Amino acid sequence: FLVDKGNHRHFMEKEIHQQPEVISHTLANYLDFTTNRAKPLNLPFDFAKVDRLAIAACGTAFLAGSVGKYWFERIAKLPVDIDIASEFRYREMPLSMRSAALFVSQSGETADTLASLRYCRKAGLPIGAIVNVRESTIARESNVVLPTLAGPEIGVASTKAFTCQLSVLASLVVNAAKARGMVDDAGEEQLVRELAEAPRLASQVLKLAPQLEALGRELAHYKHVLYLGRDTSYPLAVEGALKLKEISYIHAEGYAAGELKHGPIALIDESMPVIVIAPHDRVFEKTVSNMQEVAARGGKIILITDKRGAEHATVETLQTIVLPDMPEIVAPIIYALPIQMLAYYTAVFMGTDVDQPRNLAKSVTVE
Ligand code: G6P
Repeated sequence: FLVDKGNHRHFMEKEIHQQPEVISHTLANYLDFTTNRAKPLNLPFDFAKVDRLAIAACGTAFLAGSVGKYWFERIAKLPVDIDIASEFRYREMPLSMRSAALFVSQSGETADTLASLRYCRKAGLPIGAIVNVRESTIARESNVVLPTLAGPEIGVASTKAFTCQLSVLASLVVNAAKARGMVDDAGEEQLVRELAEAPRLASQVLKLAPQLEALGRELAHYKHVLYLGRDTSYPLAVEGALKLKEISYIHAEGYAAGELKHGPIALIDESMPVIVIAPHDRVFEKTVSNMQEVAARGGKIILITDKRGAEHATVETLQTIVLPDMPEIVAPIIYALPIQMLAYYTAVFMGTDVDQPRNLAKSVTVE
């Protein structure tokens, strides 16, 4: 990886466009696409024997871990506690000796994540680290390093590291599901084949750039934006809001769509666009009801969905971004792209320093 912008205006744009390639490298490190099996991992614990997984991380890495929770619990039937590392380290929770701990960090140097790791190590738990920098402190202090092969990430707002973290987590889930007897050989092959589609789908989604650029131009006129999603799209809604506020300085919040009526609905009017992340999945109809609640109050909806979702969404939207239909397990990886692109183009129209947003640091090594 050459550390220059190539033909791109910003590192962030370059890194967004590298995703098909780096997701492919990362998945291929964990999955064997000739046999369609998960590669064996040399873990310091046995997925069949642990009864809980503790995950802690900060920022975007925390949101990758949050998607991981849905996957581990649904597919591998392994309960996950996911925490923000700055909370985890002081929470003094009892740790079961049948747990394993997993830390997610692009830099491998984030102070709170490292402190959480040391807390678990002191308690004697086996530790895995999903890191992008293999020589990092978090990597060195773990029992197993599960690298993301994203290459150097220069943009302060994480993009390709996030989708690579998701790729590692999804691969781990296949391993866990197999070890715990939750998928048979055919089930494992199917999951691996589905994940193999991610790079191609990511390339397809990058072609939506002109539509997202036009939408970013519009979004740049607003002061507040609300993001909604359910299930694995909930952490993505939070990630969408995080990306937008980080680089465009527009106030944004990500909410579980079902929480709409418990607060944020009070804010809905024509001055606050609502971005809804909703693939046509098991909770789609529920999210449609939430969109109807927004529409009934004059809210402007930007729907990010797939072909089937666009056909079935019985609600008027300001704009609908239509992604290809895709298997459920790859959706969180792929839906990350339009939200990154939307934040990126909005920030470009705002004229902010996209790669080095004010007040933020790429690696937070102090508490
Ligand atoms: C900083 C960065 C974020 C990142 C977070 C966690 O706040 O600006 O992009 O998500 O730290 O960093 P890590 O290196 O641990 O993933």
